Amino acid sequence: LKSQPTVFVIFGGTGDLNARKLAPALYNLYLEGWMPDHFAFIGTGRTKLTDNDFRVRVTGDVNKFSRSGQVKDEQWQSFAPNIYYQPADVQDAETYKEFGKKIKALEKEWKAPANVIYYLAVAPNFFPIIAENLAKAGLTEDAGCTRIVIEKPFGHDLASAKELNLLLGRIFQEKQIYRIDHYLGKETVQNIMAFRFANAIMEPLWNRNSIEHVQISVTEQLGVGDRLGYYDGSGALRDMIQNHLLQLLCIVAMEPPVSFSAEEVRNRKVDVLRAMRRFTPDTVREQAVRGQYASGWMEGQQVPGYREEPGANPHSNTETFAAVKFFVDNWRWQGVPFYLRTGKRLHRSASVITIQFKDVPHLIFSPETAETMRQNRLVISIQPEMSIRLQVQAKRPGVDMMLNTVDMVFDYKGTYQSEAPEAYETLLLDVMLGDQTLFMRADQVEEAWDLVMPILTSWQTRTSQNFPNYSADSWGPEDAEALVAKDGFHWFTLP
Ligand code: BG6
Repeated sequence: LKSQPTVFVIFGGTGDLNARKLAPALYNLYLEGWMPDHFAFIGTGRTKLTDNDFRVRVTGDVNKFSRSGQVKDEQWQSFAPNIYYQPADVQDAETYKEFGKKIKALEKEWKAPANVIYYLAVAPNFFPIIAENLAKAGLTEDAGCTRIVIEKPFGHDLASAKELNLLLGRIFQEKQIYRIDHYLGKETVQNIMAFRFANAIMEPLWNRNSIEHVQISVTEQLGVGDRLGYYDGSGALRDMIQNHLLQLLCIVAMEPPVSFSAEEVRNRKVDVLRAMRRFTPDTVREQAVRGQYASGWMEGQQVPGYREEPGANPHSNTETFAAVKFFVDNWRWQGVPFYLRTGKRLHRSASVITIQFKDVPHLIFSPETAETMRQNRLVISIQPEMSIRLQVQAKRPGVDMMLNTVDMVFDYKGTYQSEAPEAYETLLLDVMLGDQTLFMRADQVEEAWDLVMPILTSWQTRTSQNFPNYSADSWGPEDAEALVAKDGFHWFTLP
């Protein structure tokens, strides 16, 4: 990688994603010695800026958002000259000729051909326009060294996702297309694969014989913020379940791949999606719950309800919470429910996967001795706590036989004392390396849409009458509790 010159062209260079995630990630990769000897980071946008204006702007962004804190003078002086800006009207063919010239000039300076990565950090309606214009300008011809990175949302439904895949497929080969799901870049998410496939002890338990049910819960305290324009046309199911949560489910449920290669891993993940039980209007009613937040108090501050957010439609029926019970119809998972829930303005921000094991077949201790009858649980905490804990029963110290639930814990911070890289660092490095393992393949995206479509359709036709139905700082609507309670469970939350 060091000797491979690389150009990043960031469409949406003046946007939020670049400021918060991409620029800090490239800088951190640079600090840690991962960037090639020759690289350029070209931001593009409609705003007219000079290279220098953009460098000043990026310096501010990195200072504000980088996990490594304020830029360090010496390293920044050597990093900053690699940042450029190209004002661009993505509709205009001339723009793309300018990119071509700029890339050629850099290659001449470096005396070597460059890998070029086009990063589309823009609204999805621009994806086709940019891809087609890149092709027209002859910038996509060399499949060996051109890559395109696409941010979600990847389609709005199954039909639009297929259409986008078709269009991209006419211009790029699949090996050039990197569809980002940033959850896959998270250190703790990658570790689930290490945990499952680099340890023999879990595999005999990892199936319907020992596991009673699985919960995947991604709760957020934040509201919709300034993303209402996007979010109101999306909602929690499209925004989180179709992609991030189903990807987590795939990693938990997948069969062991033959090797840790992109195609093997993605084949096994798509197998899971294909095996997932499809919904009917009746099962949507029984197994899917939606919610929308009302106003409330969070950490001493009053926060508005979703319909009262600035610019909101006061009658919006967009869900800000979704909980769904899924089944994976294969040998490993037959009969094991997977409960997924996500929502905004909830009591706590935490992404946690809970594997609930079955109870002991016969309890030799009297029920009064046990604090809880649920003996074993594996809790994979993705964020903010980064840990894996196995809950077991143990004897409480004392002369009598009393049992307690205790945790056997692997905690990242305690074990490694170093900060984990941000998801975008891992993902941008993988794009440079040409490793697609952590990216979404066309068929994965389509299968996931296919699975959620009946829910979307049902919800569209049955507009909810009772929104808002949960208050800010709660754990979501009562129906979500009922969804698991009717099966005899409750949502697990970290203490
Ligand atoms: C994004 C969603 O993909 O993921 C947001 O569009 C959500 O609505 C975010 O807040 C959550 O990501 P993270 O990394 O903060 O858990």
